[in-house]
Amino acid sequence: MAETVKATNITWHQGDIVRANREAANGHRATVIWFTGLSASGKSTLAHAVENTLFERGCRTYVLDGDNIRHGLNKDLGFSPEDREENIRRIGEVAKLFVDAGVIAMTAFISPYRADRAKARSLCPDSFTEIYVKCDLAVCEERDPKGLYKKARAGQVKEFTGISAPYEEPESPELVIDTSHESLEESAAKVIAYLEAKGIVPAA
Ligand code: ADX
Repeated sequence: MAETVKATNITWHQGDIVRANREAANGHRATVIWFTGLSASGKSTLAHAVENTLFERGCRTYVLDGDNIRHGLNKDLGFSPEDREENIRRIGEVAKLFVDAGVIAMTAFISPYRADRAKARSLCPDSFTEIYVKCDLAVCEERDPKGLYKKARAGQVKEFTGISAPYEEPESPELVIDTSHESLEESAAKVIAYLEAKGIVPAA
């Protein structure tokens, strides 16, 4: 979808409180943690597990979840390549606002296209961690918590990622988490260890 710019005569207003003030008050850095992977790969589950640990440590966090956001902000979008692009564009912008607000924003969207993820990264170039939630299609299909893979195989759901629509694996994500072979606790611990190692959150 070509990005249309309709707003003219607008001026950026910078407030007195900037991101660095908020980060100092929070005691941790603000960042986007961008989880990408197939439906049922475990993106939301992992994001919420990471959030639980960070929240207990007093960090400011928020999870933006594909299914939830599509109930509201993005309910006008479907699953064509153009609509997915717009879905990810808006989420990239929302995540950028969260980072400006000093928050650790975790996004859990399939985000199947490399180019769309690259654009989201470009909005927060120094504060973006891409995590590939890797899970074999067969395992996702076996899990099938919403019965959508079954419907997709039966042709009742069109353009379904992994079945009748593409998923472009990340080429150089900051982290790869293999949810078909490791436990949720192990996966969440890896993400937390990464955030500590990068100085985004203080070590516990
Ligand atoms: S994305 O591709 O645009 O990033 P998003 O993460 O927002 O997708 O939404 C994916 C969720 O929508 C899936 O987990 C699934 O529950 C639901 N869904 C419904 N139709 C489709 C479809 N055709 N392809 C993928 N997911 C779908």
